[in-house]
Amino acid sequence: MDTMKILKPFDAHVHLRDGELLRAVVPFTARQCWGAIAEPNLKPPITTRAQARSYADRITAAAGPDFVPFVLAYFTDTLDPQEFVDGLTEGDFFGVKFYPRGATTNSENGIEDVSLLWTRGTRQFDIIEATKTTRGVVQLHGEANFTKGGEELDPYDKETYFYTEIMPRLQDAHPQVKFSGEHITTSEAAAYARKNGGEYFGVSVTAHHLLIDRRDVYRGGYHPHSFCLPVVKRVRHTEALHELLYGDHSFVWAGSDSAPHDWKNKESECCSGGVFSAPAMVELYAQAAENIGLQKLALERFLSRNAPAFYTLTPPQEYITLEKTLWDFLGHIEYGDSPTDYVRYWDYPELKWRMKYD
Ligand code: DOR
Ligand code: ZN
Repeated sequence: MDTMKILKPFDAHVHLRDGELLRAVVPFTARQCWGAIAEPNLKPPITTRAQARSYADRITAAAGPDFVPFVLAYFTDTLDPQEFVDGLTEGDFFGVKFYPRGATTNSENGIEDVSLLWTRGTRQFDIIEATKTTRGVVQLHGEANFTKGGEELDPYDKETYFYTEIMPRLQDAHPQVKFSGEHITTSEAAAYARKNGGEYFGVSVTAHHLLIDRRDVYRGGYHPHSFCLPVVKRVRHTEALHELLYGDHSFVWAGSDSAPHDWKNKESECCSGGVFSAPAMVELYAQAAENIGLQKLALERFLSRNAPAFYTLTPPQEYITLEKTLWDFLGHIEYGDSPTDYVRYWDYPELKWRMKYD
């Protein structure tokens, strides 16, 4: 097989940023995907309908009219429930994004006490419940920073703790809410998905978490462009993700988590978390599929059908074509006025598929 034609993908999780960086990065997603869920961790965070509407307009202005952005509200401890419900009802918000406070880039406005999410009578509880009638979704950055007893968790254990201690409580408290576990990286999250995946729970998986394990991050010195959150885990976890994809489940889909950072913030004494994969999102997933032994139709379901079905969206009948050809994913994009303002691509040598553009 030298070419693959697949239904145009949907990116269920992407950081498009704002301003000049937005204008520089969004064309990459828009040329490969018909739509995407735009993450709300901007500065300031997106919490009002007016902010969400104007962000969607800025994305559309930069991407062109054929690309459909779906904007989430940022779940802060002060998110106004009425504003949120109105925004969901009117289509300004597609759902809400939970970040544990301090877990990742621009998460200082995230939820401080996660137990409020399953405690009746709290604003946080009501916000989650509101998504039921308005058909919104709750996207989860599935990590915890601290144990119940207040002990700080090791970065390699944060996701496991979330899927063993927190996620069951959340689903018990909110049985008919649609939750999506974002960018899962561990065997425990994969096991949780296998047991609970379906109408009310699904997961996104990034291409980079399928393509590397932590040996790659440390080989020959630290690789800052592979630093992301949740951190890349040891090989048995990467293999558990492969197995999950191989299972070809409707509750597993692509969310690139492409997250551009200026090189000065990656190659510095304090490396920002994020992998900029959008320029080759489809090719990176096609490579992962090839490594795993996933057939074309299973890849198409993962990239283009499963997330829209979960989110009750109808993908347009548009197709993309991939050609078999060996190439290296290397490069950078400039943005801003200075030639030193640039973002490096996540570098991945020897990709076997390349998308054909008309
Ligand atoms: O690696 C990451 N980068 N993980 C996140 O959760 C946020 C993202 C970003 O915004 O840079
Ligand atoms: Zn993200």
